[in-house]
Formats: sequence, C-alpha cells, structure tokens
Amino acid sequence: QPVYLSDYQPPAYHVIHTELTFDLDPTETRVKARLTMQRHPSADAAAPLVLDGEHLSLRALAIDGQALSDADYQLTDETLTITRVPAAFTLESDVAISPSSNTALEGLYQSNGMYCTQCEAEGFRRITYYPDRPDVMATFKVTVIGDAQKEPVLLANGNPVEQGTREDGRHFVTWEDPHPKPCYLFALVAGDLQKVEDHFTTMSGRDVTLQLWVEKENLDKTDHAMASLKRAMRWDEETYGREYDLDLFMIVAVNDFNMGAMENKGLNIFNSAAVLTHPKTATDAAFQNVEGIVAHEYFHNWSGNRVTCRDWFQLSLKEGFTVFRDQCFSADTNSAPVKRIQDVSFFRTAQFAEDAGPTAHPIRPDHYIEITNFYTLTIYEKGAEVVRMLRNLLGWEAFRRGSDLYFERFDGQAVTIEDFVGCMAEVSDIDLSQFMRWYSQAGTPEIDAHGEYDYANAEYHLTLRQRTPATPGQPDKQPLHIPVRMGLVGTKSGQDLTLTLDGNKIGKDAVIHLTDDEQTFIFTEVAEAPVPSLLRDFSAPVKLHFPYSREDLAFLLTHDSDGFNRWDAGQRLALLALDDLIAAHRNGVEKVMDNRVIEAFRLLLTSSMDDKAVLAEMLTLPSEAYIAEQQPIVDVDAIHAAREFVRQSLALALRDEFLAVYKANVSDAPYAPTPEQMAQRSLKNVALAYLMSIEDDESVALCEAQFATDHNMTDVRHALTLLVHSDRDDVSAPALKAFGEAWAHDPLVMDQWFTIQVTRPQPDVLERVEYLMQHPAFSMKNPNKVRALIGAFAQNRINFHRLDGKGYALLADAVIELNRLNPEIAARLITPLTRWQRFDETRQQLMRAELERIKREPLSSNVFEVVEKALA
Ligand code: ARG
Ligand code: ZN
Repeated sequence: QPVYLSDYQPPAYHVIHTELTFDLDPTETRVKARLTMQRHPSADAAAPLVLDGEHLSLRALAIDGQALSDADYQLTDETLTITRVPAAFTLESDVAISPSSNTALEGLYQSNGMYCTQCEAEGFRRITYYPDRPDVMATFKVTVIGDAQKEPVLLANGNPVEQGTREDGRHFVTWEDPHPKPCYLFALVAGDLQKVEDHFTTMSGRDVTLQLWVEKENLDKTDHAMASLKRAMRWDEETYGREYDLDLFMIVAVNDFNMGAMENKGLNIFNSAAVLTHPKTATDAAFQNVEGIVAHEYFHNWSGNRVTCRDWFQLSLKEGFTVFRDQCFSADTNSAPVKRIQDVSFFRTAQFAEDAGPTAHPIRPDHYIEITNFYTLTIYEKGAEVVRMLRNLLGWEAFRRGSDLYFERFDGQAVTIEDFVGCMAEVSDIDLSQFMRWYSQAGTPEIDAHGEYDYANAEYHLTLRQRTPATPGQPDKQPLHIPVRMGLVGTKSGQDLTLTLDGNKIGKDAVIHLTDDEQTFIFTEVAEAPVPSLLRDFSAPVKLHFPYSREDLAFLLTHDSDGFNRWDAGQRLALLALDDLIAAHRNGVEKVMDNRVIEAFRLLLTSSMDDKAVLAEMLTLPSEAYIAEQQPIVDVDAIHAAREFVRQSLALALRDEFLAVYKANVSDAPYAPTPEQMAQRSLKNVALAYLMSIEDDESVALCEAQFATDHNMTDVRHALTLLVHSDRDDVSAPALKAFGEAWAHDPLVMDQWFTIQVTRPQPDVLERVEYLMQHPAFSMKNPNKVRALIGAFAQNRINFHRLDGKGYALLADAVIELNRLNPEIAARLITPLTRWQRFDETRQQLMRAELERIKREPLSSNVFEVVEKALA
C-alpha cells in the first residue's frame, strides 16, 4: 500500500494547541490528550476527522466535553475516525501504552529503565491519536508525572512552567513550547539522569542555558559535546545569521536508539555513541562524529524545525540542507580538504552503491511504503551534494541571500523543495528549472570525457558526454545540469593555465556547465599541452571517466592546485595498479607491483607536506568496497588479495620511510581533540598499518608498545586492531582478552571490541560472530550492538561472502529475528544482501535464496518493502 507524492492533500483539520498529560508506568502509561482543533476553511464541512493511532488502547474519548460512545467513532489498527465534528472543537482522549514492551524504539519506550521518545517520522501515532503529519503544527503544553525516586528528572520540549508533588506522592513537571511544531518534533525524557550545565550568549545578547543529561557514570564524557554545541551555535549565527530561540537547550544521551540523534525542539535526544566522548574511550573519529552530529541536530532548529517539511517526500529539504550545513561547519572547524576527502570517499562508496542497487530512489521519491526506509544516503548525502551545487552555482553571497529569504518567508511553515529552490532562483536570477531534475531523477550520472590538444592552433578540445543509467521504475533519463569545476594544468610549467572559452578569459579554475547529452568545449590560447583536472572538489555527484595515463595521474598527484583532485589522482593511480593485480590474481599469473605507485608514495613520504591529515589520506589505498564499486562483477577474493599485495609491496619497498614517519609522529602530549593532534595521530597510524602488513617482529613490537601506552583510545584501538587482524594470535589473543575485561562496564567500548574481532580477515570469523552473539554484553535489542557485531561482520567482505553461504544465512537469521523486535533496524541490516546482482552466479543464487527465505516470514512493512524491491 504505497503512498504517492501526487496524492498530497492539505489536512482537513488542524490542531492549533495540544495539551498532553503522561502518567508514566512501564506497562501502562496513561496519555491524556486535549487537542484544540479547527476545520480548514477550504475543507468540506462533512469531512470526517481521521486521526492516526497505532498500538494504543483507547480508554475514553470526548468532544467539547461530551463523552463519545462506541457508535460515534470507528477504530482500525491504524486510525480513529469520527464521522461528524464541528468546525472548531476540543477533542479529549485517554489512552494506555506500554513503553517497556516497545522494542521498535519508535514512540515512547524505555532504554536502561529511562523513558524516552522517538517520533520522527511517524512515531507520535504510537503515543496518542493525532493527525501525525508534518503540516499540522501546534503549540504544546505537556505535563509529565513520574515516580520521584525512579524518575527524578522529567523533561519535555520548551520551558518548564510548573512543578510539584501530587497527593499520591508522585511528582510532575509541566512544560510549554511556544513555537508551533509538528508532532514529529515532540519529545519526552524521564529517568534518573544527571546534568552538566553551561551557558551561551546569543548574538542579540540573550542568555541560553545549555544542559547535557546523562547517566551518572557518563558525566565525565560530556565536555566535547558541550564545546561542540557552543561552537555550532556561534557558527550558525556568524555564517547563516541564525539565532537560537528558547531560553533552554537540552541534549539527552540514551543507549538504545535507532539512528544517530533527533532534533526535537529544545530537547535533542542522542544515541549515546553520537554524544559521549572521553580520550580513553572514544577515538578521534568518534570525536569528529560527535562534533558533526551535535552541530547537525542544532542546525535543524532552523532548517527543519522553524521551517519544516510539508510531507515526508520533502525529507531532503531539511536533511540535505542540514547535512550541507554540518559539513561546512566541520570543514571550517577542522581541515577543510580532509573533511571533503572523507565525505566524498564515503559518498562514492556507499551512496553510489545505493544508486546502483534495487532500492535506488531520487532525492525526492514519488512513492514509498515505509518512510523510515527512506532515511538514506541518497536523501541525506546526495541531498547535501545538490545543495552544495546550488551554493557553487550561485556563489556564497547569493546563496546566503536565498537562505535568508527562505527562513524569513517560510518561518513557522511546512514547505516543499520548490519553495527552497525557488528562493535561490529568485535572489540570483539563475534559471534552475533543469537543475530541478536532480531531485526527481535517481541514479548516478556518468560523464565520459576525452580531450585533445591541437598544437597547431594552441587549442584544447574537451568533450563531455553524460548518461544516467536506468534505475528501477525510471528507464529513461534526461540530461542534468552538471557544474564541472576544472583547470588545465600545463605539462611544461606545472601550473594552471588561463582558460579562454568563446573568446572570454574565465580564470585558471572555472566552472563549465554540462547541460546537453554531449558538449565540446574549445579552449583557445592554450600555450602548452595540458592535463585536464576535472570535477575539482567533487563539484557534482557523478562518476567521471577520463582516459588518464599513469603518467598523467602521477603528474596531477604532484601538480594539481586542487587538493581534492591531487588526492583523487592518487586514488585513480592506485586503482589502475589494483586492476592489473586483480586480473593477475584471477588468471593465476604472478603479481607484479607497479613501480610508479611506489615512487609516487615515496615522493609523498619524503616531501614536506604541511597538512599531515591530507597526507594520511593520500597514503590510504581505496577501500575494498570502493574498489568493488569499480568492477563490473565483484570478485571479493581477488580484490582482497590485490589490495593486500599492494599494501605489502609498499611496506617492503618503503619500510624505512614509514618507520621514520611513525617515529617522527609519536607524541606523549596530553590528549586533545585538536585538528593538529588528530592529523599527527592519523599519519602515524597509517604508517603503523603499513609496517604491520609485513608482520615482522619489529612491527609487532611497535603495535604492542602502542597498545600498552594506554594513552588514548585512538592509538590503543588502532594498535589492537592491527594485532587482531594479523596472524599473530599469540600476541593478539591476550591483548583482546585484557581489553574486553578492562572495558566490560562500558557499552560503547564493548561495541568497538566486537567490531575489531569480526572485521579480521582470518576465516574463523563467522564462528566468532556466533559465539559473540551469546556474550553477555551483546543484545539484539540494542541497535548499536547489532551494528557493531552483525553489521560490521557484513562489511567484512571476504568472510561475509563465504562460498558456503553461511555469512548470508547468519545475516538473514538476524533480519528475521529483528523483524519482530525492531523493523527499522531489520530493514537496514538487509542492505548487503540486496546487492546480489553485483556478484558471481554462485553468490547471486545464495544471496537470493536468503532473501526468499526472509520473504516467506510474516513481515513488517519495512522489511517487506526492501525484500520486495531486492527480488523484483
Ligand atoms: N531527523 C533525524 C536526523 O537526521 C533522524 C531521524 C531518524 N528517524 C528515524 N525514524 N530513523 O538528525
Ligand atoms: Zn537530520
């Protein structure tokens, strides 16, 4: 039963004001709602009132104080319908719900005994009968009643206005949120929590109280999130002119959470993994992730909350824009080129794979069965790339004017993607009609490019041809408006040449616009033969093919003025070498390492590059997943063998250089999550990984020593991973055991302990996953554990894709179990199986068989939608 974008109708009845009273109890929480409602002026007077509601037991219902009898309304599993209602009325309801048995983690549930909520997208209907859609916006007044001992802290959105103790000894707090909001932004938290408090003075001089609520044992893990929040608040004022609009801003950490975090108005709820950090328990990557997510949720206060989505098809309106905003914030706060390299490298691996698979969908889908399946890389990350293209097309200043116009014009409203792009067109006078296709057309566009230098006329002819492959439901594609940022690097001078196009000098680094299927750009006055540097800074989310020779790539690696393309040239060079080795492996021919890669790496290692974080990225080979993306049919074993061969060849040829880099970057300065320190650690650890690929005694000793320093989790985890992933079980087994015992009390560290073990290349991993699923620290009910153990195993390519099919069966078993417990997580966990078309015949059959087995179960709509598409 899909929902279609084209069926959108405005709501017949609005809620103007919502009053809720929660009387908390694990199995019988009572929710009393008092809704002030009005018929929409243009709606039919005979329109019935249809409210959403699921898993609710209705105890009482009244309109304007008059109790309704059974005959006055109809109930289904999903709706409550009242046939006749006045034009304006008050609806009162009383329902009972059971938070302790809510394992789906949608609506009101319990996590570690604490009560919390997750309402986006459609969780509010598990709390009370309501028009659960984002274009219904109301002010909220919420009273939470709880046990004074078990739930000393009672939180909801907005400001606390009243509190006290009732006759029965239970206490309560009443909260008021003056900003009208859709119910998906509602939140409630109750439990035995402790807070860390700070303050922020806004640009207009208002004082905002900032609170971070955690369980007592986590009080020492809040500094970084709080500091990140303050930086994000300042950044949004300085960059977008956006100021916070309540006197209180709260963040709560919970252990059981389906995603990263949620931007509920004034009361953000976070997966503890996305907010808690301590040098001893969290890696640099975790620190950066926390900073980005804290900023992301805070930025939603404007891009999402003040201006929200009309319907869930517009999800990318808030998510694409907010991801773009958090990416820019992180780039400004840390190393901008590294942030871009990491984002693009993830994007090209994971989003491109989504685009190429059976669940491919546009940034604005035109139908869905289950909206939670659409919190995807396409909606979020590709959505952000499209907003980035708008910023680049308009330039920052016009883009900022468009953003100001958007926030001003639509403040307090629920709007569409057209409204957003319309503001950008209005302030810039740029015609964005063809650009809109990015929102409706699925799939990754590919550009086939070739160029020729005409010595006689000093011209360079660049031809670009675009095509977007067919995706499910979209066989024919239209040409997109693709901005290609580029330069021509002179092979003699090593410099960017001035670009002259149609007689105009357009600079040394310029954007050309590909809008037709095929276009040839003729650059004149090109004094020397150039190598083109195309798609600089990844100016559009496309695949670019250009017949670069290895010499061209080695040249760009050292001469391109664009840092991103210098890195990309290195990746392309490595990929060419890997291609040869994959073929050699398949044909049983002896593998020979390409010397040009070794020499390029030698140059990198010995040159004095000041950005160590960029250098670390440049020394990192493309991942197995990314290499697989480039192959027509994925040969898991050949890819693994080829990549290992390259790593070892580089390590053997450049052992002294790697050792020198390692030693030069060891430091015993106290840990700080600064860009400088992180850069130094990542460079040092990349070097250590190369050294360990030889597994000689000296490297093993270095790893053991680094593990033993116990200085910070970044270094400890990296050393432990290298040991566990080596064949030196004599050393790694005791280290792993010691680590597991030392951190048994800390669930976030135990997640890492699980992941380290199940990502090792040795063939005993599947059995280890089965064994660890019985470990006391593991639970199918905790999404972080499922991701750390089963999700991580499915990323372990050679082991997950075992030829006996046991890896697939293990995943399918987990999906079937989770389908009952937590459909959202179950549906996500299937992803690796949905990519069956990419593998050889034998594996295809095994993967399909598991999908068929899942399909025979009684399925949630979440899992059903994914499996159905995967087998279509
Ligand atoms: N809006 C949240 C965010 O991006 C994510 C909400 C996820 N909801 C869900 N049902 N998974 O920050
Ligand atoms: Zn978001």
